[in-house]
Amino acid sequence: MSSMDHGSSVMPPEYKGEFVVRELTPEDRPWVQGVLRRYWASLVQVTRGRKIQADELPGFVAMRDGEEVGLITYEIVGDQCEVVTHNSLAGHGGIGSCLLAAVRTKAREAGCKRMWLVTTNDNTPALRFYQRRDFDLVAIHRNAVQEARKLKPEIPDIGLDGIPIRHEIEMEYRL
Ligand SMILES: CC(C)(COP(=O)(O)OP(=O)(O)OC[C@H]1O[C@@H](n2cnc3c(N)ncnc32)[C@H](O)[C@@H]1OP(=O)(O)O)[C@@H](O)C(=O)NCCC(=O)NCCS
Repeated sequence: MSSMDHGSSVMPPEYKGEFVVRELTPEDRPWVQGVLRRYWASLVQVTRGRKIQADELPGFVAMRDGEEVGLITYEIVGDQCEVVTHNSLAGHGGIGSCLLAAVRTKAREAGCKRMWLVTTNDNTPALRFYQRRDFDLVAIHRNAVQEARKLKPEIPDIGLDGIPIRHEIEMEYRL
């Protein structure tokens, strides 16, 4: 598992609209933990049958007027970069897109060939969002969430719009 990168190769902040995107620092960790608990019910994420300690991952935070308004965490393994968590905390004004772009830049710099992520069958806004940003659907892992619940019992049975959460949907962006 990656650890946070605080080296001198830190990319300059990206500006878009009224917010700034910067890399996570160790000081952000309590806040990151709070976001993960609030939006993902745990510090642990499970994708493709694997537990990931998301609060230990590198990532980016979006800041507006001194307040955190978005978080993305990612993990680079070999030449692949997985987006592990991705949240806008303040509406839909470009925060999510900017965070995703920051990870894409990082993945390219690291020589990755592929960015990928897993969402669930209920998350139709996410399917829309990532497809509109050139991510493609590459696999539906049927009933994978049943297995994931054995590792993360906090995953609810019912998701967005009352849809039962059953399947993992894998999406990718070729770099
Ligand atoms: C996915 C997510 C990170 C995107 O962040 P965002 O800040 O909303 O992204 P942007 O503002 O850059 O773009 C949002 C898009 O959704 C549209 N949108 C508007 N209202 C929306 C709403 N109520 N719900 C969802 N999307 C909405 C925007 O118009 C925009 O559409 P576009 O594709 O035509 O540009 C965010 O919606 C989110 O936090 N989702 C919940 C967590 C999640 O599912 N994460 C992904 C799986 S890890």
